[in-house]
Amino acid sequence: MKEKYYKIAVFRFDPLKDTAHRFDHYTVPASKANTVLDALIYIRDYIDGTLAFRASCRQGRCGSCAMHINGRYGLACEVRLVPGQNRVRPLGQMPIIKDLMVDMERFWEKYEAIKPYLVRRSNEAAQTYANRRKIEKTVDCILCGACFSACMMTGMNSGFHGPAAFVVMNRFLLDERDALRDQRLEIVKGENGVFRCHSMYNCNEACPKNIKPAENILEIKKNID
Ligand code: FES
Repeated sequence: MKEKYYKIAVFRFDPLKDTAHRFDHYTVPASKANTVLDALIYIRDYIDGTLAFRASCRQGRCGSCAMHINGRYGLACEVRLVPGQNRVRPLGQMPIIKDLMVDMERFWEKYEAIKPYLVRRSNEAAQTYANRRKIEKTVDCILCGACFSACMMTGMNSGFHGPAAFVVMNRFLLDERDALRDQRLEIVKGENGVFRCHSMYNCNEACPKNIKPAENILEIKKNID
């Protein structure tokens, strides 16, 4: 039987050598690739060993393979190749290290700034089942950066915390065991806080885990007098 192939155009840019980006075109056998990540691994292993991208778990859990695929954000290990032309670009709003790898330092800085950990009110403070159900919608965030990348405000304002940080913030605001509620709200009241969000919902559209960051931001706003 005749072998089936997928076509994929991959964003290439090496800031140390290139003055402009380009798309390189590859053909990948369907017997070797099902997902976009399979195709990238095939290209790196058999066609061009210089292709740079991040990936780890290959099962949609670590968040490292987020990129812009065929017109929308997604996880390369979860998005299937489509017949005809496929096209991949790196996450936006962050400097390119090489090809599909971006420098996520600003993303992690903003994440750390919201104190992404539980500080218990007391050692005895246990979580009720009902409260655990309440935070369920936030804990699936895998910090892939797709929402940060899709957000207009993170692009326009480098001080803006961004949707993922606010999702994690809301996770702790909802947690009945947490002692930092007032401190957390103080952080997001500020100039680069939640009221900078214009509810464009690009983050909801980008999230591969359907977390709806925009709704989390609205919930945080309701906590602020
Ligand atoms: S490789 Fe971990 S989410 Fe894709």
